[in-house]
Amino acid sequence: MCCRSPARTCGWGWRSGWSSTTRTASGCRVSSAPTVPTARPSPTEGSPMTLENTTTGVERVVDGRTVRMVPYAIDGPADGRAAPKVPRDAREWLARAASMGELRVLRGVDCERGIGQITEMLHHDEDAPAVLFDDIPGYPSGYRILVNTLSRRNRLAMTIGLDENVSAAGLVDAWEAWLIDARPRPVNVVVEGPITENVLADDDVDLNAFPTPLWHQEDGGRYIGTAVAVVTADPDTGWVNYGTYRAMIHDRNHTGLYISPGKHGRAHQQAWFDRGEPMPCVMLVGLSPLHFLGAALEIPDGVSELEWIGGITGEAIDCVEGRVTGLPIPAGAEIALEGYVLPDETRLEGPFGEWTGYYASKEQQQPVFRVDAIYHRDDPILLGCPPQKPPYEGQRFQQYGRSANLRREVRAAGVPGVVAAWTHSVGGCRLFNVISIKQQYAGHAKQAALVASQCRQGAYLGRIVVVVDDDIDVTDLHEVIWAVCTRHDPERDVQILTRTTSGNLDPAIEPGRKGYNSRLIIDATRPWEWRDRFPDPIGPAPAEKLAVRETWDWILRSTP
Ligand SMILES: Cc1cc2nc3c(=O)[nH]c(=O)nc-3n(C[C@H](O)[C@H](O)[C@H](O)COP(=O)(O)O)c2cc1C
Repeated sequence: MCCRSPARTCGWGWRSGWSSTTRTASGCRVSSAPTVPTARPSPTEGSPMTLENTTTGVERVVDGRTVRMVPYAIDGPADGRAAPKVPRDAREWLARAASMGELRVLRGVDCERGIGQITEMLHHDEDAPAVLFDDIPGYPSGYRILVNTLSRRNRLAMTIGLDENVSAAGLVDAWEAWLIDARPRPVNVVVEGPITENVLADDDVDLNAFPTPLWHQEDGGRYIGTAVAVVTADPDTGWVNYGTYRAMIHDRNHTGLYISPGKHGRAHQQAWFDRGEPMPCVMLVGLSPLHFLGAALEIPDGVSELEWIGGITGEAIDCVEGRVTGLPIPAGAEIALEGYVLPDETRLEGPFGEWTGYYASKEQQQPVFRVDAIYHRDDPILLGCPPQKPPYEGQRFQQYGRSANLRREVRAAGVPGVVAAWTHSVGGCRLFNVISIKQQYAGHAKQAALVASQCRQGAYLGRIVVVVDDDIDVTDLHEVIWAVCTRHDPERDVQILTRTTSGNLDPAIEPGRKGYNSRLIIDATRPWEWRDRFPDPIGPAPAEKLAVRETWDWILRSTP
């Protein structure tokens, strides 16, 4: 069955709000009429954007196939509205990226090798643009894939409405403030939106309709869920969560779902399975980069990322209610899969190239997501972010959010004098974390290190925590290692914590024994007892260094 908008013509019973649903014998939720049918025009309705200008561009023949790079020409909103500060969906995001000169459009690249290879190349070049693939061989023209959206700080800043020239420290400060102060805004329920332009159920559900690349050569299958937001809810409290968890296509209406222990989606899944019930689930595989960002970062327990995003952008997110589960589906999303994660079925999933830089877990039995309905916009856009050897796109944006969260959590635990934190991308923003403090008493550095290694942000699959004095720029790997080399004495300043929490993806732990690992704590601060007699470092101090660079960096970037 394929339904075109308006979606109510599908003939399904319309599903109600999350808390008022009941269950049929088959495990599906059924419900009464929608509670808040406040249809509003979608953000992009009436503002069509002209796509690529096909009369210009660059053409190359690669492996006997013609590939064209064409410009993404933008028309402003047809109704004359000013562009929003924060792009509200993927199409507004594309328009903004193109106007910044940060987008390339490639036609004719294949899903079998080309898209995965190009994406890997983009992820490993820190100045690389975002790329939109179209005319993918074997798929309808217009069925597109967008990659590398958030890898550069200027695009990340644009995505969340900050100044595109924001500094790394400025971004961390902004993120920390949002984690502490953002007032979540309840979603705005609408009857339909761009996402209901096409609604597919029953025999029309076919995941293979969407171009899904083989992202890495040794992957065990096609991962439709990489830059994904998985919507789940706690069966007891109704708390709705967004998480990025990988999903491999098993067949036309099933995917795998790998959620690591400790993640919110895993807790929801366990709660449903403990009841012997399937977990209602919506998987957004085509979505705005902003929603991917919210799903891929650690947001405090009990907070719905959907509402949190509304809080930081100042605009409640329009959502339709999923017809199968009643879960919220952003009205401006590109592709949404809806159904149930089954309590009594697992299938082999993986291997998959992971953020540690390895095919870290081999094939494993993992839960199965049965897709009962697909929603997609006309000419849908799949968002892709396959993990790579660090640093890749995911870590290039996670480093800000995770650093902010780490500093917030260490401060919230009562550690005084915490100046900065940085989760280095080379360690996948988990394996190598650095904290700087203004030392106040004996044992202060050890206290900061232990908390940083065990708070929520630092606990899962951590490895090395370094504490430095506040004259060290925590983001500068050279400075951090210099402090380790010159201020710590291994006999005095190193400690190993044993049987700490790791995970399935830890490459250093033998298969079959994964679960625990150990932590290396390095105190690279000046020894408290004789800090006044420690040699003075050669300047400048971090604040002065920053100011010098802001004033004089044009010397490095210009030619006479
Ligand atoms: C590209 C990408 C892929 C990810 N894949 C997974 C995954 O397969 N499983 C997982 O548990 N976490 C994965 N993560 C990390 C989680 O999305 C992240 O920890 C997030 O905060 C989880 O949401 P939660 O805190 O609401 O559980 C991935 C992150 C990124 C950026």
